[in-house]
Amino acid sequence: MGETTVSLQEVTAETVRTICELAPHGAQSGFVAPNAVSIAQAHFNPAAVFRAIYADEEPVGFIMWRPGDDGASCFLWRFMIDGRHQGRGYGREAIALWLKVLPSQGYRLAQTSYVPGDGGPHGFYLAQGFVDTGETRANGERVMELAL
Ligand SMILES: CC(C)(COP(=O)(O)OP(=O)(O)OC[C@H]1O[C@@H](n2cnc3c(N)ncnc32)[C@H](O)[C@@H]1OP(=O)(O)O)[C@@H](O)C(=O)NCCC(=O)NCCS
Repeated sequence: MGETTVSLQEVTAETVRTICELAPHGAQSGFVAPNAVSIAQAHFNPAAVFRAIYADEEPVGFIMWRPGDDGASCFLWRFMIDGRHQGRGYGREAIALWLKVLPSQGYRLAQTSYVPGDGGPHGFYLAQGFVDTGETRANGERVMELAL
């Protein structure tokens, strides 16, 4: 990835419109909610945390998580890299940054869930060390986890 520095940064009044305009490729739209919807949902879930993903000074994606039901797990709720910026390792780097801070916050397990389908993120999460739990949620999403 050369000299590019990936970071997770707070969304501000100045950047929120730009972050809401980030979107995956059209064919991937079924795999993640629009960022504006995620930020609106976070408004009603005070435990949720969201950050913009930056490559150097450029916003390239969005990540949002919330505590799991048991206190020891952290749930990756939303995650996306804008279509124009995919395939450059930014997603991998952003997940690594997120995973790195979780143990110091008391988490022992990272979880996520994904919509199965062609072009979906299952293979991406496998490559980052997540494993399938075999659980399917009521909404059809499949659960994966990674011990920290
Ligand atoms: C999944 C997503 C975040 C990956 O972001 P990205 O920046 O393109 O991924 P990276 O460039 O960091 O890829 C890291 C590795 O995963 C692989 N990879 C990326 N997407 C993959 C996929 N859908 N299936 C399998 N492997 C994938 C890459 O080839 C790369 O492999 P390498 O380590 O051998 O080079 C991005 O494709 C995306 O935003 N998708 C649409 C939204 C989505 O599905 N979000 C998840 C919601 S649960």
